[in-house]
Amino acid sequence: MKSILHPKLQILENQFSRSILTPINDPVLSERQLQLSVKRDDLLHPVISGNKWRKLKYNLNHALYSGSNTLISMGGAYSNHLHALAFVGKALGLKTRAFVRGEQPACLNPTLQDLQTWGMQLQFVSRSEYRQLRQFKHYHSLPDLKPGEYWLPEGGATDLALQGVAEIIPEIDAAYDVLMVACGTGATLAGLIAASPNSSQVLGVAALKAGGFLYQDVQQLLPAQQTMAGWDILLDYHFGGFGKTSSVLTAFMQQFQTLHGVPLEPIYTAKTLFAFYDLVQLGYFKTGTHIILLHTGGLQGWRESPWL
Ligand SMILES: Cc1ncc(COP(=O)(O)O)c(C=O)c1O
Repeated sequence: MKSILHPKLQILENQFSRSILTPINDPVLSERQLQLSVKRDDLLHPVISGNKWRKLKYNLNHALYSGSNTLISMGGAYSNHLHALAFVGKALGLKTRAFVRGEQPACLNPTLQDLQTWGMQLQFVSRSEYRQLRQFKHYHSLPDLKPGEYWLPEGGATDLALQGVAEIIPEIDAAYDVLMVACGTGATLAGLIAASPNSSQVLGVAALKAGGFLYQDVQQLLPAQQTMAGWDILLDYHFGGFGKTSSVLTAFMQQFQTLHGVPLEPIYTAKTLFAFYDLVQLGYFKTGTHIILLHTGGLQGWRESPWL
């Protein structure tokens, strides 16, 4: 069932831009009669871009309708999720609080500076404490929540996130065969699988090492009747792990940006695009296939190039 959007969220959403499809004209693809289009969710909003709005929208709706005044979540020091949450919390007049993985750095990076500027209260926790927080996967599941506090698990990965992600599918106004997306928690992938027509295939690309657990996490988010048919996760394009990159990946990314004018970051979307081109070389796609690659944003985390 579709939830009615809270008026405060409707006002916010009215400020968003349309996410367009950018066709990629590349002789490597036309030689093989393949078509690639990038769905530009990075253009939705200057701050809450990519999959962030999609995943937060109905979680925030639930928080507002349940009378919450404080949003609490968790993330790394470059977290796109916390960045969007802090901004949106301020825009909605809600307090925000976050558990941040690792020690407090002597000098805050631009992401953490933004969080503070937007009034998010930060609590730095050890990696083991952070891992323990991951077990609280449902809203309201964090122990000792006070009245008015609303808990969002890592990446906002709840069943309500799937509802927002599902809205991507009817926006794609072109016939296509395959939809590709980067995976962190797998919630965006799950939302796309749940909403996709049976005629299309959905391929996730794990941005982290040893991502085999994602199959189970995605399945747990999916409706019980959803089968394994029509989707898969590629586990070998993580470039050494989450946040890791290589000169091969950054050279690929820079070349793609220069040729096609689509800004990328190396943590999620560049790895997904790299996987796409590798699959092309391997002959994975049938002649005539139209692939849509979802640009999930995240460009804010790349402002200081900390991984180079
Ligand atoms: C820019 C970007 N792309 C992709 C993802 C992966 O999304 P998910 O955690 O839903 O798999 C994230 C993390 O949320 C992200 O920040």
